[in-house]
Amino acid sequence: MQANPNYLKLPGSYLFSNIAKKVQAYQAAHPEAEIIRLGIGDVTRPLCPAVISALHAAVDEMGQAETFRGYAPDLGYEFLRHAMAEQDFRARGCDIADDEIFISDGAKTDSAAIQEIFSPDARVAVCDPVYPVYVDSNVMAGRTGEYDADTQTWSRVIYMPCTADNGFAPALPAETPDLIYLCFPNNPTGAVATKDKLQEFVDYANRVGAVIIFDAAYEAYITDPEIPHSIYEIEGARTCAIELRSFSKNAGFTGLRLAATVVPHDLKDRDGVELHGLWARRHGTKYNGAPYIVQRAGEAVYSAEGQQQIKETVAAYMKNAQVILQGLKEAGYTVSGGVNAPYIWLRTPEGMTSWAFFDDLLDRAHVVGTPGSGFGPSGEHYFRLTAFGSYDNTLRAIERIKKM
Ligand code: MLT
Repeated sequence: MQANPNYLKLPGSYLFSNIAKKVQAYQAAHPEAEIIRLGIGDVTRPLCPAVISALHAAVDEMGQAETFRGYAPDLGYEFLRHAMAEQDFRARGCDIADDEIFISDGAKTDSAAIQEIFSPDARVAVCDPVYPVYVDSNVMAGRTGEYDADTQTWSRVIYMPCTADNGFAPALPAETPDLIYLCFPNNPTGAVATKDKLQEFVDYANRVGAVIIFDAAYEAYITDPEIPHSIYEIEGARTCAIELRSFSKNAGFTGLRLAATVVPHDLKDRDGVELHGLWARRHGTKYNGAPYIVQRAGEAVYSAEGQQQIKETVAAYMKNAQVILQGLKEAGYTVSGGVNAPYIWLRTPEGMTSWAFFDDLLDRAHVVGTPGSGFGPSGEHYFRLTAFGSYDNTLRAIERIKKM
């Protein structure tokens, strides 16, 4: 027996597991320290009332012989696929059919798995910095080449730097890729992509026969009416783009688990193979459907009350984002993001490395954030804070940072 050699190439542990371990060690050594966590993008506000009632009702149904449900349909219940197609897409003028939406138990799972339906030698382009799951899952699949520890890059990955100079929006890839991962509003920088920027990528992907994997997990945080919420608002996206949707950040489902992936029928590989069929095939073999009660909770997000209640939740987190942005500016930091996204991206002071700043912040302010370099080489000298904490903790964290 031999372990999968691709896994052996992965440097260190997963970013957020690594941070959790460091924080645990610090807490053990400093039991009196009252640590405030603004690191991983995990929500803190309770589920909204519409979701809670739907959960209760669905649990009651499961306790009755007539309404009990076993395995969910592997592609998702029609009631949820329809609600999403209507409200997330058709209401925005996007031409997406109910059966093009595949329900799953989380966008992290889908963003890691989607690469499976592409050729093992596909070339992958990613923004730099990047949500680590996109790169790690391609490393596990063996298509990323060798790792260079000095530059923190993989030889077969095409990096698209997102820097202050380009407003954290990438230029087209320098070499022709097969897959292009885009996440907007962006994790980690909190930047958004304009309609023109996305059109540039869609036109390019259609021209070179590449597929865009568009992660829209943070779309609920867009406040600027000109910024697209879905890649399908862009002309030509149906023939080149897959979209990932999540219930985690808009409706607080990080502990419930629910998401969807959109694969239009018009999306074909260079030989005319429909990717929709491949993703359905993959679901059939590897997945038994998100729980009925959770899909009913997801449906409740689309009710009139649900929509109003999640808007209030998002607004509360955006109030935190304002506190962080304003406070850091007053403390003299260079900051961005936090206006159309729940992440604030700050430049570390005096050229400190991202990890040195992590240690300093933990030690002197007892605040946890995420080192920018953990997201890729262009994240070095940057740091991410999330707006997902409680309001009180956010205020206290910023007061402590100001005193550093
Ligand atoms: C993050 O902190 O980047 C996110 O919470 C990760 C995730 O959604 O899996």
